[in-house]
Amino acid sequence: MKALILSGGKGTRLRPLTYTGAKQLVPVANKPILWYGIEEIVATGITDIGIVISPETGREVKNKTGTGDRFGANITYILQDKPAGLAHAVQIAQSFLKDDPFIMYLGDNLIQQGDLSYFLQQFTQKQHDALILLRPVANPSAFGVAKVDEYGRVLELIEKPQVPPSNLALVGVYFFSHTIHEAIACIQPSARGELEITDAIQCLIDQQKQVSACQLEGWWLDTGKKDDLLEANRLILDTYLKTSNLGEVDAHSQVIGRVQIGSGSKVINCTIRGPVIIGSNCYLENCFIGPYSSIADQATIIETDIEHSVVLQGARIDRIHQRIIDSVIGQCAQLTVAARRPKALRFLIGDDCQIELA
Ligand code: DAU
Repeated sequence: MKALILSGGKGTRLRPLTYTGAKQLVPVANKPILWYGIEEIVATGITDIGIVISPETGREVKNKTGTGDRFGANITYILQDKPAGLAHAVQIAQSFLKDDPFIMYLGDNLIQQGDLSYFLQQFTQKQHDALILLRPVANPSAFGVAKVDEYGRVLELIEKPQVPPSNLALVGVYFFSHTIHEAIACIQPSARGELEITDAIQCLIDQQKQVSACQLEGWWLDTGKKDDLLEANRLILDTYLKTSNLGEVDAHSQVIGRVQIGSGSKVINCTIRGPVIIGSNCYLENCFIGPYSSIADQATIIETDIEHSVVLQGARIDRIHQRIIDSVIGQCAQLTVAARRPKALRFLIGDDCQIELA
């Protein structure tokens, strides 16, 4: 059994963060989204992992993630020259996959820890051609959607339907036998010009192959947009964060609840109310850091209140005297108050940024 993680694609929905990096490397609780998937796969006992990368962000994914040693895995990188679809990614990975059964895991998806082993067991026990995971969602048109009969059998799969036949979305985790390769060979690009894995699975259904669906009970997030990213951050901090302090917290500071502070970080006269993770070499002075915040390495926050937010590496937030909530602050971004007159707002804002002033 192998695993194939898809970490190519365009990442348009997480712009501007993805102008400067891969969307799969955007951190959730200070760890790249992609790494959660790798860890989940390794926890099932699968260590032979292929990662599909793009020419634009592939080098960054490879440099950051490495050979797999840190996860106890062996990672093979597979370059997809253009984002031609999920089924195209499987097609170009065939020399890695060979005829082995495999898990396909979308690198921007997060599912609750422990669930993967259970579904893998279901897949291997019943000798499926494909096992898909479904989850009811409020906005099915944004996903692949399944039509199932009263016994839970999959009748039809449609990619991003305008009129969804149900509210059951396809989760970005699939289990396939080698028959998926023949199905992919039969399909044509969709209206959006991609070879859709949804169409390939539909082809298996049409050929009366063994396709089953399981409903995912645990949480699942497709971290494509800012609010999904914040929600993923909240869930991960809520579920897994453990208290530890490798930094320096002065006597005037108050640390309440589950808070993790990395080495070399200084916390001076602050109130930190967990769950909060603070990376290494951060500088925090006269701040309130509220629940569900992740502050990445080398960030500086001075005289500012912030909560339910993600601050990326090297960002600086200085004397913003209004509470910052529900925000994602990009790498090395600077939010400061200038002393000079006239008192005014001065911006250097990149493409696709979103600013909401009170
Ligand atoms: O998140 C679940 C949804 O994922 C499913 O419900 C849909 O049926 C499925 O098509 C997929 O839809 P998305 O529009 O969310 O897929 P996206 O383009 O965001 O790509 C998912 C991951 O695969 C992402 O990490 C990028 C990577 N990718 C994507 C394409 C199109 C590749 O590596 N290569 C590609 O060609």
